[in-house]
Amino acid sequence: MSVTEAATSQAGKEFDIVVLGAGSGGYACALRAAQLGLTVALVEKGNLGGTCLHVGCIPTKALLHAAEVAESARESGQFGVKATFDGIDMGGVNAYKDGVVSRLFKGLTGLIKSRGITVVEGEGRLTGPRTVEVAGTTYAGKHVVLASGSYSKSLPGLEVDGERVLTSEHALTLDRVPASAIVLGGGVIGCEFASVWRSFGAEVTIVEALPRLVAAEDEASSKALERAFRRRKIALHTGAPFESVGHTDTGVRVTLQGGTVVEAEILLVAVGRGPSTDGLGYAEVGVEMDRGFVKTDERCRTNVDGVYAVGDIVPGLQLAHRGFQQGIFVAEDIAGLDPQPIDETGIPRVTYSDPEIASVGLNEDRARELYDDVETLTYDLGGNGKSQILKTQGFVKLVRRADGPVVGVHLVGARVGELIGEAQLIYNWEAHADDVAPLVHAHPTQNEALGEAHLALAGKPLHAHS
Ligand code: NAI
Repeated sequence: MSVTEAATSQAGKEFDIVVLGAGSGGYACALRAAQLGLTVALVEKGNLGGTCLHVGCIPTKALLHAAEVAESARESGQFGVKATFDGIDMGGVNAYKDGVVSRLFKGLTGLIKSRGITVVEGEGRLTGPRTVEVAGTTYAGKHVVLASGSYSKSLPGLEVDGERVLTSEHALTLDRVPASAIVLGGGVIGCEFASVWRSFGAEVTIVEALPRLVAAEDEASSKALERAFRRRKIALHTGAPFESVGHTDTGVRVTLQGGTVVEAEILLVAVGRGPSTDGLGYAEVGVEMDRGFVKTDERCRTNVDGVYAVGDIVPGLQLAHRGFQQGIFVAEDIAGLDPQPIDETGIPRVTYSDPEIASVGLNEDRARELYDDVETLTYDLGGNGKSQILKTQGFVKLVRRADGPVVGVHLVGARVGELIGEAQLIYNWEAHADDVAPLVHAHPTQNEALGEAHLALAGKPLHAHS
């Protein structure tokens, strides 16, 4: 019996939860609910795992790792190692990337099956407060969880053709390294692809409407990234909104407001992701919407009793780990475990470019808007042994209220995404500098920089700081 036949045979019964969408939010909800003894139907029109696994976090991070390997080969001489960088074999890179995705996909599929979750293949539509219809069959649930995810947005008059004008999904399947690329949008996706393509040898130009790259981050992080990108010879046009695009013989010609013209082989459109909610029946059933997003309270509940929403369709950070945690939260809420609402500010954020940017909590500007007693401390990675060994530059920046807890941690440098785990404990456990300063950090690690920054913030600086 196929998965679909198995699902159809169960269509008559009422599930505890029908989940619409099997991305990070939806499948995490299904797994946790099944673990708690609830019956679950999980509806998915594409592949289990959704954007993150198939066309988002996982494949892009594989590309970024290949980019790091390329840089290591190129820079090997700095470490006294004789190696030559002969170029990128995109077939090989894609095989590596696809191998990572397919292994994880296989694992996830097996896990979902082993938990007894009923997977329904096809496009679901909300037809009532307790019902989802898939290809003419109705699945009823005591609760419905909307988790339909997001799509790459474009701009008015900017047509994505998948050949010269690409979204990140197209960019993930390119069979060549472009000679040159214009990246429209200096947010997370834009900076990650710019970083990959530059490492692969392309001429890259970033066009960003706002005055700085990764504008949601602390200004110091944006400035450090911009400096690093300039050193890497990535051309930057910030404060430069897109106006129009035309074709040339070999690619695209982009005109910016103010008249600047940039040409390249391809244009990547990375101007944000929109909620995938159109035509899914949400508004018709009475779910309150806001510009395509589903409105929820802090317990992920919509205004319709029994209907929840998680992930990228809910206004806020569009991050896989947020959706994942929201999914777990909803399963526990439905099971009556009364979980604690998620503090959005405590969700870690990482941009996996070279260098990486990572943060949790408030940036300095936001902290100053909220409080009038804000202090900051910046510890330069120049004083961190392991960062010197890796030859990376960057910093740890701490934001706190005077004699109060640390309310923001901002990191720049190679591999700092791996340091955000400790930083998020510091923020979420409302630690003071004095709580962290006596904790022993292994030497030599980059993690040690967090320890030294807190020593300095506690008034006991050991090494260099500013
Ligand atoms: P984004 O919102 O991070 O960045 C889009 C950028 O495009 C903004 O800086 C915006 O000012 C700029 N822009 C918009 N209109 C423009 C115009 N007309 N001209 C020039 N620039 C313009 O969105 P992005 O990078 O597309 O990512 C989408 C979502 O995916 C984000 O919410 C992000 O958090 C998530 N994501 C997260 C990753 C991670 O956590 N490492 C990796 C990739 C995506």
